[in-house]
Amino acid sequence: MMKKRIVILVSGNGSNAQAIIDACEANKINGEVVAIISNKAEAYALERAKHHQIATETIIHSEYPDRASFDKALQTRIDCYQPDLIVLAGFMRILTADFVHQYLGRILNIHPSLLPKYQGLNTHQRAIDNGDEVHGCSVHFVTAELDGGPIVIQARVSIGENDNASSLASKVAKREWQIYPIAVEWFCNNNLTLEKCQVIHNHQVLPSSGILYDELSD
Ligand code: GAR
Repeated sequence: MMKKRIVILVSGNGSNAQAIIDACEANKINGEVVAIISNKAEAYALERAKHHQIATETIIHSEYPDRASFDKALQTRIDCYQPDLIVLAGFMRILTADFVHQYLGRILNIHPSLLPKYQGLNTHQRAIDNGDEVHGCSVHFVTAELDGGPIVIQARVSIGENDNASSLASKVAKREWQIYPIAVEWFCNNNLTLEKCQVIHNHQVLPSSGILYDELSD
């Protein structure tokens, strides 16, 4: 099977992009990261890409008059790489419905909460403030609804008495680096699709909370 072409969109550190690059290079994913595109020039993810001889692009959103024109420019650059899959990895921009529809079923995102809980920002602090005992992260297909697309896989972490937003973020990040490469691996093996707003994995419709990583056997 041909390797799938993956474009990753980032805004910052890029630790999730790194996990996916590493899994591709270790042949755990039948795919190749062909470009990393950032909306911020200072994103460390761009350095990571250069270390792996991956093409980089920077498209600064503040240089565009509105969301639609930024998304058009982004789409033009993405299409140059003819990707099979677009991976949002800490890409902190809301995408227009037009953009999302161009790539429906071919865009994944990772979010630091057990969706549908805590869409948006400051997820770790909100989970602590709410007195939750369990928190986590979710990989989902992107739809026009922010952080609202069908869920592929989730991983849980427990919130300890001494946890603060920063310690919890570290715990969640470790889980993110595990579940994102798994979801990308499934997609690249043609084993993960979005059909009529439902996630199909192994020819089965997944429950609305996706697969729970903690229950996966090796
Ligand atoms: C990750 O925790 C990811 O879940 C989050 O940004 C972080 C990026 O880290 N994404 C969102 O909050 C999207 N709504 P990274 O740049 O080191 O991969």
